Amino acid sequence: MGQTILVTGGAGFIGSNLIRFIMQNRPDDRVINLDGLTYAGNLESLAEFTDNPRYEFVHSDISDSEKLDEVMPRVDCVLHLAAESHVDRSIHDPSLFLRTNIIGTQMLLDAFKKHKGKDGRFVYVSTDEVYGELPLDDKSQLFTESTPLKPNSPYAVSKTGGDMLARAYWHTYGMDVCITRCSNNFGPYQFPEKVIPLFVNNLIEGKTVPLYGDGSNIRDWLHVLDHCEAICRVLDDGKSGEAYNIGGNNERSNLELTRMLIELCDRDESAIERVPDRLGHDKRYAIDATKIKRELDWEPTRSAWPEALELTVQWYKDNRAWCDHVRSGEYRRFYEQNYAART
Ligand code: NAD
Ligand code: DAU
Repeated sequence: MGQTILVTGGAGFIGSNLIRFIMQNRPDDRVINLDGLTYAGNLESLAEFTDNPRYEFVHSDISDSEKLDEVMPRVDCVLHLAAESHVDRSIHDPSLFLRTNIIGTQMLLDAFKKHKGKDGRFVYVSTDEVYGELPLDDKSQLFTESTPLKPNSPYAVSKTGGDMLARAYWHTYGMDVCITRCSNNFGPYQFPEKVIPLFVNNLIEGKTVPLYGDGSNIRDWLHVLDHCEAICRVLDDGKSGEAYNIGGNNERSNLELTRMLIELCDRDESAIERVPDRLGHDKRYAIDATKIKRELDWEPTRSAWPEALELTVQWYKDNRAWCDHVRSGEYRRFYEQNYAART
């Protein structure tokens, strides 16, 4: 039987891909997209679902308890993605990160407890950044689910707060909670402040790309739809109270990534602008995803490079209007015409 899934942060990068994934692959389910539409939320990413009876948009902050009281009784489960998500912004000003990612998560958990109690699953979408960093010179080391949490940036601390709170609501109140910890995502609809869409946009527009430090930092890249599939697998079959690592088995240094993007955009290495390093820049993230493979039979199938990266670059080349709107704030017109005007 179908269920009503509340997706928070559904107007963002992963949330919009997740909603499309659910709408296309789970025809019995309904989606409520609850999003506060910060600079990172763009409803144009979900334009094709605006009038679909299985989809509903609720414009709300995750800490608006009155709105949550209206929505939660109609919900069977929650996929909680809404967050401030950009590490550089958290370094500049941590306060909003703590408010949204910790207090906001607590308010959402409380609303779910109040209306659903132990009846229905709450999935907290966390990050591999909760584990801190790995050294560059020992590739045998990977993050497992039992690696101690040692977050380094204000963003990572705020996500760890939410992650630990979600676990505490399972432990203390017996709620049905699962946690996912994923590596770096790539794919369509990513806000162009994150390294891949930022660099692709700059390269297309004939600008330089700001590579932090010596470019040796390593990230493990996963296609966003592989992440979406893993989240749904955890929703359906994850064990309550457990965390699941999700990774692409696709480690690349930032310099290697930059060179691939330069080639895909027909530029040369003079496009690289070396800029001062990010403060406290984590050296390497690398995921051991054997638990989710063993227990939930999930592994990435869409993340292989160069093919998947090439398709992503092509999406940004083909969708200049989306990029321009989200960067300029013009995307708000879509919300005003399609949603705000109707209420
Ligand atoms: P994003 O910044 O693209 O989207 C975040 C969304 O949350 C936006 O639509 C925004 O409007 C909404 N939002 C922010 N604050 C809100 C609030 N107070 N109330 C309601 N809505 C609010 O982020 P993303 O990259 O799609 O990441 C989604 C989630 O996945 C985050 O929790 C992030 O920590 C996690 N995650 C991201 C990655 C990655 O590589 N992007 C990897 C692992 C985990
Ligand atoms: O690992 C999961 C995390 O991945 C998520 O939890 C975060 O929400 C998501 O933003 C991402 O964090 P990163 O900091 O790894 O992503 P970002 O795209 O900001 O940076 C990727 C790498 O590229 C990082 O080593 C810093 C570098 N970089 C980034 C930018 C924006 C640059 O060299 N230049 C840049 O301008």
